[in-house]
Amino acid sequence: MSSENTKSAASESVYATPKEVTDLSECHFYHTIDLPGHGIQKGPFDLRAGVDDYLGRIDFRGKRVFELGPANGYLTFYMEQQGAEVVCCDLSPDLEWDIVPYNATDTAKIIDRRREHIGRQNNAFWFAHRLYKSKAKVIYTSAYEIPPEIGKFDIAIFGQVLLHIRDPFRAMECILRHCRDQVVVVETLMSRKQNFVLKLLNRLQREQTFPVFFLPRGAKQHPIDTWWKFPEWTMEEYLRVLGFEKTSVVYHEPIHHKAKSNKARLYSMVAKRPS
Ligand SMILES: C[S@@+](CC[C@H](N)C(=O)[O-])C[C@H]1O[C@@H](n2cnc3c(N)ncnc32)[C@H](O)[C@@H]1O
Repeated sequence: MSSENTKSAASESVYATPKEVTDLSECHFYHTIDLPGHGIQKGPFDLRAGVDDYLGRIDFRGKRVFELGPANGYLTFYMEQQGAEVVCCDLSPDLEWDIVPYNATDTAKIIDRRREHIGRQNNAFWFAHRLYKSKAKVIYTSAYEIPPEIGKFDIAIFGQVLLHIRDPFRAMECILRHCRDQVVVVETLMSRKQNFVLKLLNRLQREQTFPVFFLPRGAKQHPIDTWWKFPEWTMEEYLRVLGFEKTSVVYHEPIHHKAKSNKARLYSMVAKRPS
């Protein structure tokens, strides 16, 4: 059996067999994470100071959680420490990132490089999984093809992942049909200028509009891996259509070493299925 993210030997299992990764140089860390016995590994995103805000300040005790796109799992292991049982879903080198298909860019080359990057990120997850003695399970599949075998869960977490997916509404629909209770969506906050313009537009029209910003720019052939920016009220409406009512929103600015300001401006929206 290949050591790559193969499914469990129990053929009926949809979960990946934990990969034995012992070499840090084979890992890529997206989140800064403190690894028992190995110290702090630096990634571009450091969520440590505001992790409760990031996760919408919800209670994870005794909850079954589905997390889309855990990267190296900083949030996974944190939610477990808070008493959750976590099932993660991520890409693997066998699955393609939804790269923007610019006409003048060699996207096949980019997709191949991304496979390598994803493999190293998966390695970082399993490296940390072992050190944290985590029980979190992983399915490697597209967000549009969630197998029913995973069963129902109480909470779904979409942390900065919908912006990277070509059809985010479809991914949410596929996942939220398995979700009994709450959902947390973390996305980029609109700028003040965007907010002002959209509010004005809504005041001028009789019906409220629910725009989503399309980020790819043909002239620049950039960005290559990001599609959308969701105004809060559009996200609220997505969730309402799918049967969840917004209960709270937390605004926060985690450290993002790749941003000009060294910070990301985000919102975490929590919504609940009415009982
Ligand atoms: C920007 S990182 C976010 C990591 C983490 N959720 C957080 O909030 O910090 C995006 C994650 O989504 C995953 N991802 C991207 N496209 C995906 C797709 N189509 N299906 C499943 N996961 C995807 C990436 O592999 C990565 O783990």
